[in-house]
Amino acid sequence: MPDRYAVIGHPIAHSKSPLIHGLFAQATGQDMTYDMIDGGAEPGGFDRALASFRTAGGRGLNVTLPFKLQALAAATQASDDARLAGAANALRFDGERIEAQNFDGIGLVRDIEHNLGLPLAGKRVLLLGAGGATRGALLPLARAGVARLVLANRTAAKATGLAREAAPHLGGCVVEGGGLADLTASDTFELVINATSSSLSGEAPAVPASAFASAALAYDMVYGKGLTPFLKAAQAARCARVADGVGMLVEQAAEAFAWWRGVRPDTRDVLARLTVPLV
Ligand code: ATR
Repeated sequence: MPDRYAVIGHPIAHSKSPLIHGLFAQATGQDMTYDMIDGGAEPGGFDRALASFRTAGGRGLNVTLPFKLQALAAATQASDDARLAGAANALRFDGERIEAQNFDGIGLVRDIEHNLGLPLAGKRVLLLGAGGATRGALLPLARAGVARLVLANRTAAKATGLAREAAPHLGGCVVEGGGLADLTASDTFELVINATSSSLSGEAPAVPASAFASAALAYDMVYGKGLTPFLKAAQAARCARVADGVGMLVEQAAEAFAWWRGVRPDTRDVLARLTVPLV
């Protein structure tokens, strides 16, 4: 019997995870299946689906919106990344144990460093937003050696609060939080990351052009949306390079796959297949 895995979310039909994990399984010769589960909109839907998947012998789940918080709450063990993120995007089942991980930030760092070739050690990074996507990126960016992390959010208080909460966990990485409107012309960065959900509504966070001027890369965590208003603003401000989050998606999947199966798949072919030109 092949081992069973799945992705759970609501809605879920758009998910690329079955394709990605199917290709990884094929390439690494793993005997496994990977399905989609719609957890539905009813209260308790996630917990019921989780219980029946485990009863049926399921070995692990990827978790997407809106269940990432519930996935962490259901866990008996959680990684530091999942705890600081306040959310889990991968679960692993072992007898009574439910282990939670959050690979989104690790996927982001791997994409930036390995696929896009930008080492993060010593860099000044502007991270836009103060929601779940930002939270998930904090520890992995700090572990990669980022020197200074500025969290800028439309609602300033959320970014200052998050910076205060995260600071004790980030080692030598200096973290500051504030409003988008507080960014001045003297605030320059080597990397600007959009972790807001603005691109999903066709908007861009109000970032001054000067923030991009000396940046080697502007990175939007969304994927498949082409040149988002954020990426267009970065180009207009003469940012050297722009990228969307397709590599983050593929790399976080590879991390989960390795955690489940003990073998890390090569991501190049899958990434090439999913990449949509940024036009
Ligand atoms: P996620 O889990 O994707 O991070 P979230 O927790 O709802 O989602 O957070 C969304 C983030 O995007 C917030 O930081 C939000 O800013 P506010 O805290 O001010 O609401 C930010 N955001 C969403 N739309 C935005 C826009 N058009 N411009 C700037 N920031 C935006």
